Amino acid sequence: MPDDDQSLLEQRAQDAPPSYAPPQPLTLRINGAEHDLMIEPRVTLLDALREVLGLTGTKKGCDRGQCGACTVLVDGQRINACLTLAVMHDGRDITTVEGLGQDGQPHPMQQAFMDCDGFQCGYCTPGQICSAVALLDEVKARQASMLTDGEQLAPGALSEDEIRERMSGNLCRCGAYPNIVKAIHSVVLRQA
Ligand code: FES
Ligand code: FES
Repeated sequence: MPDDDQSLLEQRAQDAPPSYAPPQPLTLRINGAEHDLMIEPRVTLLDALREVLGLTGTKKGCDRGQCGACTVLVDGQRINACLTLAVMHDGRDITTVEGLGQDGQPHPMQQAFMDCDGFQCGYCTPGQICSAVALLDEVKARQASMLTDGEQLAPGALSEDEIRERMSGNLCRCGAYPNIVKAIHSVVLRQA
């Protein structure tokens, strides 16, 4: 190789950006506890929860925003943890399925899933439950869905069709939908 080409290649190698971004400090507040971490900026919130913190209740299904298995709550809003970076949530309140129950008791939504047999293999269940908990708050805040007619927004008036529409981002490969909807509806009726 001519000397000129060789030196051009060396120059390009020196100018190239580093192949990884250095870890940076962040604090994740998860289920009320603060975790000080050093994390590469490209790590998703899902991988930070599962691989760094060992919180494996949040599941990885598709890893591309299509199944809802990774649903967690950030400041009370449901999001797909596989579609967001951990560094974007510095200092925000994150709730995973491990943080829903209180004083050793399951959250009413968790209890309803058990009472109504709202699962088979259970892989989608943490995401379903986190999503359903957020759904109740969305209805309380009078957020409409595609199916809502204005009169339907009172929590007790939420129909099973509305629940199906609002839970459409959470897939269940076992097809446990009838009992998932029954479980959520039972909590809706109790809150009416
Ligand atoms: S793992 Fe996040 S949506 Fe499927
Ligand atoms: S219970 Fe098996 S994927 Fe939903």
